[in-house]
Amino acid sequence: MPRPARRIESVPPYLFAEIDRKRREVAARGVDVISLGIGDPDLPTPDFVVERMAQEIRDPRWHRYPDYEGHPAFRRAVASFYRRRFGVEIDPDREVLALIGSKEGLAHLIWAYVDPGDVVLVPDPAYPVYLTQTRLAGGEPYVMPLRRERGFLPDLGAIPTDVARRAKLLFVNYPNNPTGAVADRAFYEEAVAFCRQHDILLVSDNAYSEMTFDGFVAPSALEVPGARDVTVEFWSLSKPFNMTGWRIAAAVGNADALYRALGIVKTNLDSGQFTAIQMAAAAALESPEAEAFIRRMNAVYARRRDMAVQALRRMGLDVEAPRGTFYLWVPVPAGHTSTSFATLLLEKAGVVVTPGIGYGPGGEGYVRLSLCLPDERLQEALDRMTAQVRIG
Ligand code: MLT
Repeated sequence: MPRPARRIESVPPYLFAEIDRKRREVAARGVDVISLGIGDPDLPTPDFVVERMAQEIRDPRWHRYPDYEGHPAFRRAVASFYRRRFGVEIDPDREVLALIGSKEGLAHLIWAYVDPGDVVLVPDPAYPVYLTQTRLAGGEPYVMPLRRERGFLPDLGAIPTDVARRAKLLFVNYPNNPTGAVADRAFYEEAVAFCRQHDILLVSDNAYSEMTFDGFVAPSALEVPGARDVTVEFWSLSKPFNMTGWRIAAAVGNADALYRALGIVKTNLDSGQFTAIQMAAAAALESPEAEAFIRRMNAVYARRRDMAVQALRRMGLDVEAPRGTFYLWVPVPAGHTSTSFATLLLEKAGVVVTPGIGYGPGGEGYVRLSLCLPDERLQEALDRMTAQVRIG
């Protein structure tokens, strides 16, 4: 057998595949493992989407290859969602592309922009795909620390000018995975200005825009005047509509970045999402029930968040209640690393959490808990964790 390409050695196995492997190992010993690992909604896709899918799948037109850029009905639905939700006018024919998921789209965009040696500005900690795909493409990640005292926002002013000049992409992701931090419009104004000044493409991963609490409404980077000259935003149906397995998302923004760059990579690598899924996704975006559904889901996550935050604080862990996402970013007890604490919880309590180091060196000292499980199971996980933290 030939050895795989050397660049493969520059990336670890996918974080959640690795965690799932460990979970299965422990479960195989007969342990009732509870997962607070991957952010994968536990509640079902709403009926108004499932029923539409049941109709669409019978349409023989959709049994053939999908449109390369996505079905016009899906692209129009995304554009009208952006108008209603963010007050942003998007041209569905030039400024929207359908994706088989944001993860895949983000990876393809990196391949479209990054030549070996190009600099990519990556937050730390961050969703691992920004870093691993940059490395696979031969790019040089420049790490922007996200610190609690700055609300987990990067300090763009601290990026040296020579680095900014060489940079091609700047990744931002708010509401943030893994920290749960949120960003207001002023942050996007700063990011857009920075990207315009240095000729960088701003890549806004807005997968959690609908998952916010305590009255916070997350903006889109595209709300900033002039943003679309330098911005591509990724928006996904996975989290708001409990559709992670369906693989449906959109890239929205700069027409050249979408149709000249991302589109070239994408159409050479994937054949697009099943049109029946795109039609069901369009129905999700346009349904009069959508807003109420999202509100109900957020009430569920807020309740779980409060349960978990209270229990973690009782354990002596100094955790903040996030205003966005279904993730808790929890400082580990003294004497632990993120890996040793995650291992302790898995081995001794049968509870899966994600070690912060999996999101980059800046994640050391934290573990991430996701709130994608029924309240009773969450309570059980918290009780088991409490017992372990007490033992030390
Ligand atoms: C996560 O747990 O970070 C997410 O579910 C991963 C993803 O969205 O791909």
